[in-house]
Amino acid sequence: MARRKVSVIGAGKVGSTTAHLLVLKKLADVVLVNRTVGLAQGVALDIKQSMPIEGSDSDIIGTDDYSQIEGSDVVIITAGAQRKEGMTRDDLLKTNAQIVSEIALRIKQYAPDSIVVVVSNPLDAMAYLVKQKTGFKKGRIIGMAGALDSARLTSFIAEKLRVAPREIRTMILGSHGDSMVPILSATTVNEFPVEKLIEKEKLMAIVERARNGGAEIIKLEGSSAYYAPASSVVSMVDSILNDKKAVVACSAYLEGEYGLSGLFIGVPAVLGKDGIERIEEIALSEEERKLLADSATKISAQLPLLEGI
Ligand SMILES: NC(=O)c1ccc[n+]([C@@H]2O[C@H](COP(=O)([O-])OP(=O)(O)OC[C@H]3O[C@@H](n4cnc5c(N)ncnc54)[C@H](O)[C@@H]3O)[C@@H](O)[C@H]2O)c1
Repeated sequence: MARRKVSVIGAGKVGSTTAHLLVLKKLADVVLVNRTVGLAQGVALDIKQSMPIEGSDSDIIGTDDYSQIEGSDVVIITAGAQRKEGMTRDDLLKTNAQIVSEIALRIKQYAPDSIVVVVSNPLDAMAYLVKQKTGFKKGRIIGMAGALDSARLTSFIAEKLRVAPREIRTMILGSHGDSMVPILSATTVNEFPVEKLIEKEKLMAIVERARNGGAEIIKLEGSSAYYAPASSVVSMVDSILNDKKAVVACSAYLEGEYGLSGLFIGVPAVLGKDGIERIEEIALSEEERKLLADSATKISAQLPLLEGI
């Protein structure tokens, strides 16, 4: 099998952890790009030196030269500023839009056949911007958020019920952040509906903790999360590179699905070798449908701010 190549733009916390996991799992050769070349080269060298111990023959380089991303199967965008305590993801919009816009143009130039996974916040708006700047087909641009939010909810439910996380199936749709939409009607623990296992008030408190999962970590650690975000991205990349067709909550461009059009928002999607191969339209309760529409309204309100960038 031909060697696969994944480029990670941004060698900060999320980018370097993602690069490490990609080579640990032997998923691909990695190009780590950062505007400060020393950081990218240093992180790549450190990761490379762990490979003999880990028994991985994946290669990794660090660079500030975008021509090195040529031939990438997947490009992951993690570059940008991160939230500080008290900052919302929207505060990041203008700063990160400039950065992500430049990067999208480089991807179009050097990796025109790649699938792009966007991580930089505010996620849904940044995925929209990448689509505008690259002109790539909609299925080749995927935002990572729902996988992380779903993992957070899963871990809190598992902790509450003292069961293994793998017994839990859940989906969080909508925007990444405060207006995310947990689909409790489709959340099960070994096929039993979670709503029958945890009383409503306690379940709502768990949902609220998942909603604020990122902020809780910022408060404790002083900077935003990166282990679970990196695991989430890598699981998506695994499904793409290995054509696993996993159904993952991710930010996808909608054209009528769930009654929404012209924006990226979190929905269940089948991830395979062509990126998003299909959007699953699951039955939602009336309340869930309303929350999803509210979430879409909030995302749409951000899009005019991208004009002129
Ligand atoms: N979607 C999600 O669920 C999710 C989860 C966690 C973090 N994030 C977002 O991911 C982004 C990165 O987070 P982080 O914790 O790794 O931040 P970080 O500050 O540790 O790293 C960002 C890196 O981007 C680099 N960078 C900035 N401009 C660049 C450019 N033009 N080209 C190349 N590199 C550039 C910086 O030098 C830095 O190394 C943030 O926007 C954060 O909000 C999203």
